[in-house]
Amino acid sequence: MYYIGIDLGTSAVKLLLMESDGTVANIVSEEYPISFPKPGWSEQKPEDWWEAVKKGIVSLVRDIDRSKVAGISFGGQMHGLVVLDEQDQVIRPAILWNDGRTQEETDWLNREIGKEKLSEYCANIAFAGFTAPKILWMKKNEPELFARIKKIMLPKDYIAYKLSGVHCTDVSDASGMLLFDVKNKKWSKEMCEICGISVEMLPKLYESYEAVGTLKTECAKELGLPADVKIAAGAGDNAAAAVGTGTVGDGMCNISLGTSGTIFISSKDFRVDRFNAIHAFAHADGHYHLMGCMLSAASCKAWFMNDILHTDDYKGEEALIKDDMLGNNNIFFMPYLMGERSPYNNPNARAAFIGMSMDSNRTDMLQAVMEGVTFGIRDSYEVARDLGINVKRTRICGGGSRGDVAKKMMANILNIDVDVPENEQGPSMGGAMLAAVACGEYASVEEAASKIVRISTTIHPDPAIAERYEAKYQRYRKLYPILKEWY
Ligand code: XUL
Repeated sequence: MYYIGIDLGTSAVKLLLMESDGTVANIVSEEYPISFPKPGWSEQKPEDWWEAVKKGIVSLVRDIDRSKVAGISFGGQMHGLVVLDEQDQVIRPAILWNDGRTQEETDWLNREIGKEKLSEYCANIAFAGFTAPKILWMKKNEPELFARIKKIMLPKDYIAYKLSGVHCTDVSDASGMLLFDVKNKKWSKEMCEICGISVEMLPKLYESYEAVGTLKTECAKELGLPADVKIAAGAGDNAAAAVGTGTVGDGMCNISLGTSGTIFISSKDFRVDRFNAIHAFAHADGHYHLMGCMLSAASCKAWFMNDILHTDDYKGEEALIKDDMLGNNNIFFMPYLMGERSPYNNPNARAAFIGMSMDSNRTDMLQAVMEGVTFGIRDSYEVARDLGINVKRTRICGGGSRGDVAKKMMANILNIDVDVPENEQGPSMGGAMLAAVACGEYASVEEAASKIVRISTTIHPDPAIAERYEAKYQRYRKLYPILKEWY
């Protein structure tokens, strides 16, 4: 049988077709626009996602026996606010995970409701990108639109709804709304009250690997698929990426370098960082995870290459960063192009190059950009270490980790082994695996991961490089406290 994984990303939707044994039969991708209507704002049209998904599915399955497609599931960009009216029409463009407009609402929640109460209700405090502050923003700034809201959902849930007709979400994605009691896996009545919404406006909750329904008849016809294709709830993109890299069960780690950068630690037990600097969320395998999220990761490199250097030759530019240069660069880059989430929770933070001299060149600056992103991941890794979590190795995925340089930096800056999965697709692979579990192909997510995911190579830290990077990181971490006042 075939399973489709849909990774509804920020720059594009990536679709992956997987056979029963985990073989990847096809991958396609469709882009859509993103708009930044004001500095720090970030929006997309759910209708654009839907058109791209339909186009993607049709080309994904063009050359196969389509009667063998059994299930579809998702990894989706998290936290985005999608609001529908009484007729299930989209009320306004989705406000995305990297949108920083809600500083006032975030501060109000953390100060007036208080971090302790928020953590008691949801296991997390308010961050500007989370969904609840966006609801409060809409209530205050767009009262007429707010009054029309009948359903609230997350980005991938809109696609699940369009395919199946069911208003659903899964526990991993729900965790990032600040409306969900993560520990007990139910909506928080207190948070709904605080946001002025009813629990009925929220979608029905599922585990990520549960089927929510089947394809709607008209959809099946339009897409040329059987009507009994199962739609599984799916997961937030990071939980789906973790499934796709086999980061399930207890104490496993995955680093994903997409538009955002995340470090994801799976856990059988529910745990909270006492300062809430990293997120305590439900996992797609039925358990829990801790996650640090930086808002600009691969997007820093893309910005520097495309907008500043005006090149798309990533490989050629990176090839100039030789091993003996690692840890020896005098330039630092603060990767805060969209503000920062973990661990600083500061939407007003901004990027900076520091330490340039007359002999600095484009390669030194590119190296600094890539190192800045890796130091940002290390900042969240340090929070996990303070919690007593001792990660010995990590898996890695995402466009930003492509090529040797990024992986070597990760191994040496964190000073841990980096296992590279054979398949680096992450969320789309995880989505397909969740669909396979929902269809009974595998008994559990853990079984699917153990049978499907294989490690192709491991990058070990080099003691000399790791030592240089340790000194460099200690200098780097002094910069944010100095710049904070200026931001
Ligand atoms: C996670 C987060 C991002 C988005 C990116 O908390 O905000 O990783 O999910 O798609």
